[in-house]
Amino acid sequence: MQDFNNKVAVITGGASGVGRSLAFALGRLGAKIAVGDVDGKAMEQVQSDLAAEGIESLVQFCDVTSAESLNELADKAQEQFGGIHLVFANAGIGAGESGAMWDYSDKDWQWCLNVNMWGVINSIKAFMPRLMAQNEPAHFVVTGSGNGAFLVYPDQPIYTASKAAVHAITENLHYQVSAAQSPVKVSALFPGPHVVDTGLFNSGRVRPQELKKEVEGNESGISSVEDMKKMCAEFGIDLQTTHPDEVAAMAVAGLREDAFWLLATTEDTDAKIQARADMILNRETPVPMMVGT
Ligand SMILES: NC(=O)c1ccc[n+]([C@@H]2O[C@H](COP(=O)([O-])OP(=O)(O)OC[C@H]3O[C@@H](n4cnc5c(N)ncnc54)[C@H](O)[C@@H]3O)[C@@H](O)[C@H]2O)c1
Repeated sequence: MQDFNNKVAVITGGASGVGRSLAFALGRLGAKIAVGDVDGKAMEQVQSDLAAEGIESLVQFCDVTSAESLNELADKAQEQFGGIHLVFANAGIGAGESGAMWDYSDKDWQWCLNVNMWGVINSIKAFMPRLMAQNEPAHFVVTGSGNGAFLVYPDQPIYTASKAAVHAITENLHYQVSAAQSPVKVSALFPGPHVVDTGLFNSGRVRPQELKKEVEGNESGISSVEDMKKMCAEFGIDLQTTHPDEVAAMAVAGLREDAFWLLATTEDTDAKIQARADMILNRETPVPMMVGT
């Protein structure tokens, strides 16, 4: 897709971080923006910030764990803007887990899998039939994570499990849409190349009451990128970070080329991916990786 002017982009989790930056990047190129999110305060902020820049938008409560909520967002965007050309299944949370996974509450698993995995499944079910029926060039973009899709960083079993599933779903969606010879393109967005400075490490702010934490003591103690930097510094690692605007710029550049992989990596990440492939092919026992540069 070359021209984003007057296109309609729906972004779940669009009130903060990567989703918010996508809203502005596309809005500044003339797209109309529909944001679905559950964080009322951040939604108000993004709505007034988009308006201040003259970007036409719809900001609506949408919980991606609910198929109904996503259908309402799709209906509203369709009604208000007359069509949908870009869908970003982007909403996601960090489970904040630590300790032994056999001690986790089921609610820790449920919350993360509900948002990260079911959120993508529900978004596919709400939007793909509409995009396929429209039969026009459109993009369905899923925000995954290299942490789960390609690599398995230790001590985040819930998050990595969710993002491994998300990648399998995204790649399969691409195969199915291609087999149908549809003008709709599927892309896998991997925020990076470094840890992206967003609200992901403070996801507890939007954890629903019915799935609230039950087991004390299995918290990572990390609630911001700053905390993560401090932890890394204790291991002598100078953690580099990426601004979410850089992720949005990388995504837009990739969408212009209809790329499947919206992926920016560092030499360090590439080396880790290569080492993982070698480890598997050589049947070596895995050893834990450090979150790195
Ligand atoms: N930050 C990183 O380094 C990084 C790395 C790889 C992947 N990601 C992925 O990027 C995506 C965006 O996260 P971010 O880093 O911008 O974090 P963020 O917390 O800044 O943004 C996530 C947004 O999702 C919303 N959200 C949470 N639960 C929701 C629900 N049930 N329904 C609708 N919206 C919901 C939040 O309110 C928030 O606005 C996530 O899928 C995340 O896993 C982030």
